[in-house]
Amino acid sequence: MSLSQVQKYRPHLHFSPQENWMNDPNGLIYFKGEYHLFFQYNPNDSKWGPMHWGHAVSKDLVKWTELPIALYPDENGTIFSGSAVVDWNNTTGFFPDEPGLVAIFTHHLENEVYIPPKQSQSLAYSYDNGRTWVKYQHNPVLEHDSNVDFRDPKVFWHHSSNKWMMVLATGQTISIYSSPNLIDWCFESEFGDNIGSHDGVWECPDLFELQVENSEESKWVLFVSIGDNPKFEKGSLTQYFVGTFNGSVFQAEHEDEKWLDYGKDNYAGVSFSDIPVEDGRRIYLGWMSNWRYANEVPTQGWRSQMTLPRELGIRKVKDSYSVIQKPVQELDVYFTRKEVINNKLIDKELRYDFDESYGMITLNIENMDATKYGVDIHHTQSNVTSIIIDTQKQLLILDRKNSGMNSFSDNFSMPQEIKLFDTQKLKLNLVIDSSSIEIFGNGGEFALTSLVYPDKACEEISLHALDGEMKVEEGYLLKPRT
Ligand code: FRU
Repeated sequence: MSLSQVQKYRPHLHFSPQENWMNDPNGLIYFKGEYHLFFQYNPNDSKWGPMHWGHAVSKDLVKWTELPIALYPDENGTIFSGSAVVDWNNTTGFFPDEPGLVAIFTHHLENEVYIPPKQSQSLAYSYDNGRTWVKYQHNPVLEHDSNVDFRDPKVFWHHSSNKWMMVLATGQTISIYSSPNLIDWCFESEFGDNIGSHDGVWECPDLFELQVENSEESKWVLFVSIGDNPKFEKGSLTQYFVGTFNGSVFQAEHEDEKWLDYGKDNYAGVSFSDIPVEDGRRIYLGWMSNWRYANEVPTQGWRSQMTLPRELGIRKVKDSYSVIQKPVQELDVYFTRKEVINNKLIDKELRYDFDESYGMITLNIENMDATKYGVDIHHTQSNVTSIIIDTQKQLLILDRKNSGMNSFSDNFSMPQEIKLFDTQKLKLNLVIDSSSIEIFGNGGEFALTSLVYPDKACEEISLHALDGEMKVEEGYLLKPRT
């Protein structure tokens, strides 16, 4: 493998492992000035295999430094997904001197004895800011009679009940447990029967409180990723529920299905723990792939990358609450050059040079009388990704069938769509990297995250309108800092 083959498709703004396979983000946490990203990692192959926790750190959530593997398999099994917390008050007794990190993860044991595999929850702790870890000597700390699909603990400190809470994926439901010390766990409740999508196994939950935009009100949000099911064309993706949590029971306040992202490549996303209150943000990132084709994507020597970190909020429209998401503001300094598009009427096509390795485009669009309009990203002369707004069908469509390499999966070429309520006025924010496009619409009201495998990130951008005109009231082509 030549260096250029290995570097082909390597992202500039997204974390990808130097070599070998990565899936879910794990143990996302902020501690002593560093963001930690642990991740599902197979150090022996660029396909999924026996899981470890890989590790990377960042000061700004965008530029990551990969560190040695944090957690290795042991006699209890391989290391599946989980979370990390700071044990500020030494509830575990692991930290007599000063607070440190505790990882809570799933041990996955698969052998002649354990068919089906046994999944249980275990602990490890670190005295040196996550560089090295000690496994708790009485692991596992939480087991269950039925061993299958009992995984992905996300733990947080619940102030009003003065306890740790764990949300855990248990087949097609999420179970909630509580603990005074991360070691002894007590079952509280189970959520998910007769609600939400059950098109795949439930995985990687997260539960947190968010303040509603422009209000004093707050809501609890439960993320649930649902695994691949061959009958479900979209593959694996993430749904969420908005409701209340009383320290024991989560209750959703709606019956409709809610999707975190309308693209195919945002899975298993969870939020960072312990971001200081003065900062106050809830930030998450996801694995930018899909179980339908993740093992086949055409990178060489490494596989997978994470989405951009995104700040979460809640918006109330009429009586419905939706999660909104925007790339974190730390990204802004990565773009210093900009071209302004002001009050431009577009009929047919307007092209801009954009010969850059990554970029961001923001557009405030008013449709005049076009039936379809949109943006084409010309990665090269022959690799084009199209974003089309169809005003009759009221859809935003991302079409990546001509975006580059796609022969590794039939499913990859199928269009990705969002139903829009208003196609006359639209705010778009697109982030383009070597092998991805992330779309954020109307100030974060919707997101569409999509991998692409073109020969180059971008050469030109074209804005287009069919059967009429559209107007860009205000727009920017943002280019990398020099
Ligand atoms: C989700 C998942 C988790 C599991 C991990 C194994 O992508 O299936 O449920 O812990 O991946 O790598």
